[in-house]
Amino acid sequence: MALHEIKHPLVRHKLGLMRGAALSTKSFRELAQEIATLLMYEASKDFVLEPYTERGWAGDVTVERVAGKKVTVVPILRAGIGMLDGVLQLIPGARVSTVGLARNEDTLQAHTYFERLAGELDQRIAIILDPMLATGGSMVAAIDLLKKSGARDIRALVLVAAPEGIKRVTDAHPDVEIYTAAVDRGLNEDGYIMPGLGDAGDRVFGTK
Ligand code: URA
Repeated sequence: MALHEIKHPLVRHKLGLMRGAALSTKSFRELAQEIATLLMYEASKDFVLEPYTERGWAGDVTVERVAGKKVTVVPILRAGIGMLDGVLQLIPGARVSTVGLARNEDTLQAHTYFERLAGELDQRIAIILDPMLATGGSMVAAIDLLKKSGARDIRALVLVAAPEGIKRVTDAHPDVEIYTAAVDRGLNEDGYIMPGLGDAGDRVFGTK
């Protein structure tokens, strides 16, 4: 299943608060990070564990840890930064791979203006962060870039998704799992998700 709409009561409650136009920048920011933590919890449910021996208070004890090279978190600039701390709260040792994408207004294609990726991507689970999955153009471009750089296990965390973006991503990359707090009605003529959150980057950074 490529799409996971997380219907946990806390996720729905927090996202409802974020929809309020009067919400302060501080609260919007905090809620974005909190929902990111909850989405990450869901997106890590199938992480593989391996047993190892720990010296406990009463002798050796067999415990478990997450196996393998672990995780790289991939915030898409700029709004994805608004979810980064929430994910690092759960996976503090994760490497951060940063991607900046902008739309070429002539070709309407997303192009990469910044990229700094973690090494050994073929051995890591890549978690892309972008609050709004709107047309899906940036998400598909980020996934293309990660796959070209070796990533094989890619998951995306988004706060709100439009059906148009979900279709575009799942058509291009059916292997990528998308975790979202909500699937909204669709895009308006300006490319905003309705009812959505407005411009998530502006709301996280307090710009206009
Ligand atoms: N980006 C946003 O920040 N908001 C939308 O609704 C769509 C894209």
